[in-house]
Amino acid sequence: HLALDEAARAILRKNDRGGYTLPTFGLYPYQWNWDSAFAAWGFAQFDIDRAWLELTTLFTGQWPNGMLPHILFHRPDPGYFPGPDVWGTEDKGPIPSSGISQPPVAATFARMIYDKNPDAGREPLAALFPKLVAWHRWFMRWRNADGMIFITHPWEGGRDNAPDWDSAMQAIDPVGVGEYTRRDTAHVDASMRPTKEDYDRYIWLVQRARGLGWDDAAVAQDQPFKVADPLMTFVLLRANRDLAALADALGEDRSELDSWTAELTAGAAALRNDKGVFDGYNLNLGEHTNSVSNASFLCWLGGVDSPQMLAELHRAFDQCAYPVPSQKVGSDWFNAKRYWRGPTWAIVNMLIGLGLIDMGHHAEAEELRARTAALMTQHGFAEYYDPLTGDPAGGDSFTWTAAVWLAWAS
Ligand code: DGY
Repeated sequence: HLALDEAARAILRKNDRGGYTLPTFGLYPYQWNWDSAFAAWGFAQFDIDRAWLELTTLFTGQWPNGMLPHILFHRPDPGYFPGPDVWGTEDKGPIPSSGISQPPVAATFARMIYDKNPDAGREPLAALFPKLVAWHRWFMRWRNADGMIFITHPWEGGRDNAPDWDSAMQAIDPVGVGEYTRRDTAHVDASMRPTKEDYDRYIWLVQRARGLGWDDAAVAQDQPFKVADPLMTFVLLRANRDLAALADALGEDRSELDSWTAELTAGAAALRNDKGVFDGYNLNLGEHTNSVSNASFLCWLGGVDSPQMLAELHRAFDQCAYPVPSQKVGSDWFNAKRYWRGPTWAIVNMLIGLGLIDMGHHAEAEELRARTAALMTQHGFAEYYDPLTGDPAGGDSFTWTAAVWLAWAS
């Protein structure tokens, strides 16, 4: 494992741009929100100060309303589309950024990094704490449907082309989207990326929110894409508990955080469909999507146990050499190579694994860890992998996959 440890650290260093880390060179040439939080946890395994710097830099992009953007465009890069000119957020935040957020895993990793070395963490944590609270408050105010956290753009949830969004995407007619040139398919095989139909709608939704002036109330009410997301809900539920623990460590008041935990726990229960699976809920249609995705298995991370999901997990272990697939094998939506419609993602596996341990499912956690480690020892640090063959897919030399190796899989 020593050679792989060294290779993983080398990826983090190579993608390091000073205060922040690229997800991978070429395909994603800026600072991405949740990628950075995973990177911080990876750095924490060998350089605790660099770990805090990653999070500190991320929050330099926070908007005055508390929103933490999903991309920070620190320096222009023509290799990426859509850049700052498309988002049109100039007057919104302190540095050029996108106008949507991303899964709020940062507080969870801040807690883990702090616990690793409280002395080194006290000062950076004290500065970050109110910013984390402001961000979570933004979610609770503007992305909250009775405790279910919804997204207003597939990119906000991080799982760009997950079948959970299909019904909402199909309802959009992307008229007037205009001509544009994708850059992602210049870096990665198009069969591993979202389709053109998806992309037209991604850009159309950006243009529409821009037309609403990125006004929180207008976007939350008027965006035609509004889907409650198990990943967002379970991740925020967990991150909120972690933030409350950090409040204790700092001697801060936690009562507002505890009220959010209660609200999100109720919301998570409503995300369970009549088959007992946690899936996306299209708020405009009032319909569950009936998708078994890797996000469905984040219930344990949120502190919610489920015998049905444990049975689904065993099925995934039986069906795939390299679980957990982002879409259940055998479903009509399954595509082993296309991004969030089948491939296995190491970051989601780690989050599932952390939840399994917390809820006492140690055998399953170990099985998942070992199979994820095998993926990396056999196929390197890819963005994602074919769950049946293990073939690497998407970008390579990927920061968050290397971080997962250092922090969990190895
Ligand atoms: C992309 O550009 O593919 C990203 O997923 C958006 O965050």
